[in-house]
Amino acid sequence: MSHKLGRNSFGDPVNAGNLMSIEEAHSLLNDWVPNERLRLHMKQVAAVMKAWAIERENADEQTALKWELAGLLHDADWEKYPDEHCRIIIEELEKRNIDPDLIHCIASHGPNYFGVEPNNTMDKMIYAFDELSGFVHAAALIRPTRYEGLEVKSVLKRLKSPAFAAQVSREEINDAISRIDHSLEEIIQFIIDHQKDVN
Ligand SMILES: [Fe+2]
Repeated sequence: MSHKLGRNSFGDPVNAGNLMSIEEAHSLLNDWVPNERLRLHMKQVAAVMKAWAIERENADEQTALKWELAGLLHDADWEKYPDEHCRIIIEELEKRNIDPDLIHCIASHGPNYFGVEPNNTMDKMIYAFDELSGFVHAAALIRPTRYEGLEVKSVLKRLKSPAFAAQVSREEINDAISRIDHSLEEIIQFIIDHQKDVN
């Protein structure tokens, strides 16, 4: 089953700046994503994206909301429409006249699956955070103290062990990191710091 989207243009430029509230995004998630674990994943990526926008990109409130929404919605259709992920959420956001940048960000969060290249920093960061966020969470869950005391070097060690969280593609992670000017270590530390209290 190909997840290729077959296009590179998303949404209507006339809708630039049109976002939705966090409450609206949560209500969409509650309708579309019964799986609590998957909802948590999206909330974690959202927290990390928002923090990065504010702390590293000097984003204003509206831009930070856009980064947060991208995280919150990027896998919204995964549970109900696994074969059509992420076409369904993209079409839903287009129907709702949402900002094309936000839709493009979701469309490019897995370039090797969806065939859409990450263009701007927001696109590249969601790609870098997505797989690693899940991986860091898996590494935290197996520890008695979870995130408390979790160190980057122990996450790196797990990455080198193919049997651990084997479904997480190391190739994807390396590809995503190669597209940004930040090290794997820095990104892992940022994820640990910003998703540890999300629930
Ligand atoms: Fe994801």
